[in-house]
Amino acid sequence: MKHCKTLFVAAALSAVATVGIVTSCNPAPEGSDPRVEKLLRKMTLEEKVGQTVLFTSDWTVTGPSMRQGYIDDIRSGRCGNIFNAYTADYTRKLQEIAVNETRLGIPLLFGYDVIHGFRTIFPINLGMACTWDMDAITRSAQIAAREASAAGLHWTYSPMCDICVEPRWGRISEGAGEDPYLGSAIAAAMTKGYQGSDLSADNTLLACVKHYAAYGAPQAGRDYNTVDMSERWLREFYLPPYKAAVDAGALSVMASFNELDGVPATANAHLLQDILRDEWGFRGFVVTDYTGINEMVCHGYAADEKDAGRLAMNAGIDMDMQSAAYFNYLVDQVRSGEVKESTLDEAVRRILNVKAALGLFDDPYRYCSPEREASQTLTAQNKAEARSIAAQSMVLLKNDGVLPLRKGARTAVIGALAASKDDLLGSWRGAGEVQAVPATIADAIREVTPAVYAEGCKETGDDRSGFGAALAAARSADQIVLVIGEDCQWTGEAASRTSINIPGVQSELLEKLAATGKPLAVVLLNGRPLDLSAVSAAAGALLEAWYPGTMGGYAVADVLFGDVNPSGKLCVTFPRNLGQVPIYHYAKNTGRPYVHPEAKYESRYLDCPNEPLYAFGHGLSYTTFSYSDITLSAASFGAGDTLQASVTVTNTGGRTGTETVQMYIRDLVGSVTRPVRQLKGFERVTLAPGESKQLTFDINPETISFWRADMTWGPEAGGFKVFIGGSSDNVKEAEFSYE
Ligand code: BGC
Repeated sequence: MKHCKTLFVAAALSAVATVGIVTSCNPAPEGSDPRVEKLLRKMTLEEKVGQTVLFTSDWTVTGPSMRQGYIDDIRSGRCGNIFNAYTADYTRKLQEIAVNETRLGIPLLFGYDVIHGFRTIFPINLGMACTWDMDAITRSAQIAAREASAAGLHWTYSPMCDICVEPRWGRISEGAGEDPYLGSAIAAAMTKGYQGSDLSADNTLLACVKHYAAYGAPQAGRDYNTVDMSERWLREFYLPPYKAAVDAGALSVMASFNELDGVPATANAHLLQDILRDEWGFRGFVVTDYTGINEMVCHGYAADEKDAGRLAMNAGIDMDMQSAAYFNYLVDQVRSGEVKESTLDEAVRRILNVKAALGLFDDPYRYCSPEREASQTLTAQNKAEARSIAAQSMVLLKNDGVLPLRKGARTAVIGALAASKDDLLGSWRGAGEVQAVPATIADAIREVTPAVYAEGCKETGDDRSGFGAALAAARSADQIVLVIGEDCQWTGEAASRTSINIPGVQSELLEKLAATGKPLAVVLLNGRPLDLSAVSAAAGALLEAWYPGTMGGYAVADVLFGDVNPSGKLCVTFPRNLGQVPIYHYAKNTGRPYVHPEAKYESRYLDCPNEPLYAFGHGLSYTTFSYSDITLSAASFGAGDTLQASVTVTNTGGRTGTETVQMYIRDLVGSVTRPVRQLKGFERVTLAPGESKQLTFDINPETISFWRADMTWGPEAGGFKVFIGGSSDNVKEAEFSYE
């Protein structure tokens, strides 16, 4: 019997109309599977430890190699889980060794980083979050699960739930941006997409919630660096998306590399036991990140690897990814009493119960299917979905009328990134291959209009020798598309930067092209908020296209030429410069908010406005929308009540368009200070020219709840503001009270 329940996504999500209901299927039965209990009674200590060991294959290696010879380790029963190995044939080969050649025949679990697609690659996650479209995000995860499971995989290291306000950090590209409410909705949508309602189905994947916790807050944006913050801020800002994924039924969690309050997450019993298991009721297993256990020696938290392994197991880490500490020392540590056998048993029980929930004890080969692998991978339907989601992920930051471009007009396409298939895929592209990308941006534009391509310059370096040819191409054309940004390897893991400028001489090329006076649209490929102040001033139009995936070339052309009306909204704030960082919409008011233009002793910069260049929630369309004032169903409400806030949105332009309507609240006085804007609801609405629609958002006690001064979660009586609009910096407002 599966344990299924219906719940509202995450404690912090309350506006039901906006996010909808997620069905949480905790596929592991409430108790332990009898087959697991029977196995536990038979297992030797070595066999038990084997189930806690996860080694990489030698196919793709995503970190340091600690041990060679994983096939021998599978055969000896000392390694029960493998990652970075896929294809139906290869996983079957390894599974046969585990099933036929080990004493107990326990099937292997195969994991992989299926982050934004497996073979069909979707936009990077930061881009996907800009769709604000939970159905589309769920569908992308379903497609990824279908493709990956046919290749023998059971487990994806996704969703990445790390809230981030630090653009220097390369991994901001892998997450859903800066907002806990949007991030929670996305974490739940992805989990639902991967796991479906039946984890044992042959086309679903086990989700892994990562990187728990607060990995997105490294000091100075340097990857793997120290994280420190108050417990309140951790709970309010960083934890909600991890919890939302757990609430949606995710049965594995990955501990993060970073320390928190002086304790590495890999041995942090407060995170792993108190919060994850005791408060949230998580019943799956916890895995380390890659060599997370050994790294506790460098952290200065463990004397040696052996000690680190003991600390991790005793804190609640069930599975050791790649450090070999459990492999090398855990048997002895149980024998010596440093680790209780019951602690090891509990870890093994959790892992085996997930294997049971995946159906591996019923048929260990159900996921390896050469037929499905051939027929369900990179299908026309998957690619069509990827193209449409890619177009939806793009954010039109600026448009003075250059876009949409004219079809039939001579177009100069410029920039190394315009001719790159590789960069379209972004980092962590699963098993996505460049050969599967049908068109670069330049190719796709050529299919729409007469076009000439010139590289101009590379993304990095100071070679200006291509400027002349690029300018000549621009002068001979009617309109210019310049594609600039970051090499995709400059984003993702271990890709922190101290500057968020457009690298190399790309901005210089832009200035020269702008000086031709020709209509100029800039397309950006990048994985973090960049300093676009100069770019925005020079370009007639600015389209943020992120790394849009396998079908990204066509998707960019779809938007540029108006076949798709852009609807993306930023899930992260774009600063004017690095000096403003961290800058995000969820900020507090301070005791000296900047309100008087000439004031000195107010919270402001002397050399730069406080406002960002592009605010959270910003994104233009080829049409325009107007908002009525907000109507409230009552001036106040109380416990057990729901207040409704309504607006009427009208398409005031000439084209059908989709608007994401956002609702924010502010608690005016609290027992602890509250942010000036907190996202609490959103809804996408598609309107024909002249069409209007009334949207209603629910506000209930949960909507206004927070971690109060005494660290209890709940609402406080008093005055509130509600804001509704098309961007966090462009809203209508009204006041209400809670009694
Ligand atoms: C990353 C994880 C990833 C793991 C396995 C680590 O380096 O931090 O996000 O899942 O490698 O590839």
